[in-house]
Amino acid sequence: MRLAAVVLAAGKGTRMKSGLPKVLHRVCGRPMVEHVLLAVRKIGVQKTVLVVGHQGDLVAELVGDKAETAYQAEQLGTAHALLQCRDALKNFNGDIMVVCGDTPLLRHQTLSQLHTEHSRSGSAATVLTAVLNDPAGYGRVIRNTAGGIMKIVEQKDAAPAELAVSEINTGVYCFKAEGLFEALSEIRSDNAQGEYYLTDIIEYYIARGESVGAVIAGDAAEIMGINDRCQLAVAEKVLRRRILDRLMMSGVAVMDPASTFIDDTVHIGADSIIYPFTFIEGKSKIGENCTIGPSSRLFNATLGCRVNVQNSVIVESRVADGCNIGPFAYIRPGCVLEKDAKVGDFVELKNSRLGEGSKVPHLSYVGDAEVGRGSNIGAGTITCNYDGENKWRTKIGEHAFIGSNTNLVAPVVVGDGSITGAGSTITKDVPPGALGVARDKQRNIEGWAKRKKISVKID
Ligand code: UD1
Ligand code: CA
Repeated sequence: MRLAAVVLAAGKGTRMKSGLPKVLHRVCGRPMVEHVLLAVRKIGVQKTVLVVGHQGDLVAELVGDKAETAYQAEQLGTAHALLQCRDALKNFNGDIMVVCGDTPLLRHQTLSQLHTEHSRSGSAATVLTAVLNDPAGYGRVIRNTAGGIMKIVEQKDAAPAELAVSEINTGVYCFKAEGLFEALSEIRSDNAQGEYYLTDIIEYYIARGESVGAVIAGDAAEIMGINDRCQLAVAEKVLRRRILDRLMMSGVAVMDPASTFIDDTVHIGADSIIYPFTFIEGKSKIGENCTIGPSSRLFNATLGCRVNVQNSVIVESRVADGCNIGPFAYIRPGCVLEKDAKVGDFVELKNSRLGEGSKVPHLSYVGDAEVGRGSNIGAGTITCNYDGENKWRTKIGEHAFIGSNTNLVAPVVVGDGSITGAGSTITKDVPPGALGVARDKQRNIEGWAKRKKISVKID
């Protein structure tokens, strides 16, 4: 049977108290509506329509050409939202699955199960329901004595006996396309919120003798609709654990899932070990046999295999196989570390390339620099890349040796195999193979301490 999906995402999400539309709030690195769209895509729909409204351009931008969009100018309720797809789906015959954009935990397996049951029963509508310990806030599913579904009542419209019902509407439905939009245009807004409720279609179908079915979701946690930031935090926790379980099942060691935060968009190779208090975010990609953490943050970082990162931050940079980073390194955007490079403790690197096997072991700032392979940058080296107006580049060749506490005043070039004397302030290029020294000659003044009555006690 042909299947189309509609994702409702036009609401403002008043309860989020946010300038951002609700469905764009992120859960484990992805906007919640993207989780929904991914689940829908996995069940093999022929067409997806996203209903946008409040800050619709922002929401539509996210989906690009992955889905069609329908515009709901005024958010008059979920039935009204679905009605806006009438044009987009006018020639579609088959089934239409409706999912809310604020249910990021839904798994594609559950959606498939709903569709299978809908096809099997041949009902006009099939609702995905769930039984919750705490049904507060959701629409309640009211059944007749024979167990058949009769209607859905919103919390705000429910009588006390209805509020006691623990079976709720998840907001996911399958409909026969035929007759759906005619039915929707019959729905009225005479309820507590003055909205056109999609849930009213159940009663409407039943009154007309159409059959309506229900599927109870096996895992009640997955159907959660996010309306406020507390629920967002709960969803984050559930999804986080799901991501970690997936990684562990694929061979990644996670020492302490409770203190490890990995986005859904991250890839990690087998036999890598993630130590506690670590955040791996965005489009980060990590190879095999790496050790990351403790206390590290990687954002859009690409790491090869056998990379060690300890107590460090890496942002928008690439790190090749066998590199060692930290503890306490800060690798800022635009860095490339070639194979077996080392960035040690208290080193900041920005927009720089470090050649194969090169080392910046301690206490340095290397910015806007190019370092060839096999070079050593001594402790305390600073690239003076900014003159207050412009940024300038420093170029260090292969197998160079930068003495401790060197200031490299850019733009400057230190040639292949050259050396700078410790404590030098290098303002002119150093030719290949040369020694560049730029510091005052040392004077020793005999008897100075005694004359100044400075005593140095040695116990
Ligand atoms: C809805 C259901 C409720 C169900 C719950 C599940 C209705 C009337 N109620 O309630 O039975 O238990 O979901 O989570 O359907 N939206 C639009 N346009 C609108 C209104 C809403 O696109 O005019 C979108 C929202 O962006 C959101 C979704 O529809 O993604 C659900 O809207 P929301 O206001 O959160 O509905 P609930 O009150 O949670
Ligand atoms: Ca909701």
